[in-house]
Parts: sequence; C-alpha cells; structure tokens
Amino acid sequence: MISLHPSSDAVRINPSILAADFVNMQAELARIDAADFVHVDVMDNHFVPNLTFGPQMVERIQATSPVPLDVHLMIDAPERWAPGYAELGAASVTFHLEAAAEPVALARHLRRIGARAGVAVKPDTPVENLFDVLDEFDQILVMTVEPGFGGQSFRAETMPKLRSLADEARRRGSSVWLQVDGGISESTIAQAAEAGADTFVAGSAVFGAGDPDAAIANLRALAGRHSAHR
Ligand code: DX5
Ligand code: ZN
Repeated sequence: MISLHPSSDAVRINPSILAADFVNMQAELARIDAADFVHVDVMDNHFVPNLTFGPQMVERIQATSPVPLDVHLMIDAPERWAPGYAELGAASVTFHLEAAAEPVALARHLRRIGARAGVAVKPDTPVENLFDVLDEFDQILVMTVEPGFGGQSFRAETMPKLRSLADEARRRGSSVWLQVDGGISESTIAQAAEAGADTFVAGSAVFGAGDPDAAIANLRALAGRHSAHR
C-alpha cells in the first residue's frame, strides 16, 4: 500500500511513570495500556540530584505492566547495575554516556542478555563520538531537559543534535531508534518528530491528562504527522 503520509506506526510513545502516583503503581500502569513501552526512570541521587527506585521495584513493575519496560538509568557506575535490569526482563536498558567507562562494551553486554541497548546524552553532551558506533546501540536518547526531574520545559536547542544523529543514521542505513525525553507534549512533539525522533517519552503530558490513553493516541497522531522519514 502506498501511503502519502508518514505512518504513525513508525513512532513510539513511552509514558514515564515518574509522573505517576507511586503508591498506586498497578492502577497507573493499567491506565497506559495503549503505550508502546513504559518508561522507567531509575535515579540514584548521585548522577542526578533525585532518587526514585531500584531493581526490586522495577522487577515488580515488570511483573505488573501490560506493556514492555523501557528503563532509563540516571545512575553512576552503570557497568555494575545495568545488566541486572536486562536480566529481570526489561525490553530496553538505557544508560548515560557521561557515566559509562566503556559504553560499547556495556551495550554489547546488554544485548547478549537479550535487552535492547540504549545510550543517553544530557542536553550539553555532544553526540559526534557516537557516529562511528551507531549500530552498537538499539536506541539513542537525546535528553531534551537536564535529567533528574519531570515537568521541566523542553529545550529546543537540543534539536540540531537530534537532527545530526538522524542524518548520520540515514547516511549509514542504521535502524537505531532516536528517543527524546523531557518536556514532550502536544505543543513540542512536532518539532522533535521533525528533527528525526521516532520514540517519545512523556511524563506529565500523559499522566497529567484526564484520559492517559487518549493523550497517548493524540501524541502518536501528532508525531506520525510530523515524522521525518528515514
Ligand atoms: C527526567 C526523566 C523523564 C521525565 C520526563 O529526568 O528522564 O523521563 O519523567 O517527564 P516530563 O515528560 O514531565 O518532562
Ligand atoms: Zn527518562
């Protein structure tokens, strides 16, 4: 079938449970069953000045969630902790480039366990060093806010970096997913999609909505309409 418009099937919407009610996690997970993945923000109070949960809680989320887990590790020493999240069954495990001693070796380790391997960069971290190793990763997360807290404003100045990753992926015929995280909403998702993102994390925009599944559908349609074909 020839489609005149980019398909919304090519975009993924991953609600972040950082914006959920932590003491009603099971009910909160049930509210986002139209999502592609549930984004799980692990923070250690060292890499970022905030603390969320660790492997025990994530294991329970894994057992309870109707959709697969997209774990975002905002932690020091990812070599020590990331494999455990892959072992408990997370579909993807993303660690920060700034925290990893040997990012490629760690990505290979995660893939061997069976998870998609992701690497994340903070807003001010350059991405050129990733160009030659794009295919060592299944997804690259460009942070569109400083990691640590939900509800911050989208930083449009990160878009050229996303665009350069998308261009490079296109040049190399890479199928790496490009993810954005931070301040993604109905008013910002189009610019991220146009810059080349295909995977969108949204916390407050989904859990703050009266009907989270409707918010997911809306974000998905907007992203699909503005998606830059690769
Ligand atoms: C921030 C986290 C995000 C956060 C996004 O450090 O990595 O996943 O939950 O929240 P919103 O969508 O509210 O900016
Ligand atoms: Zn996140």
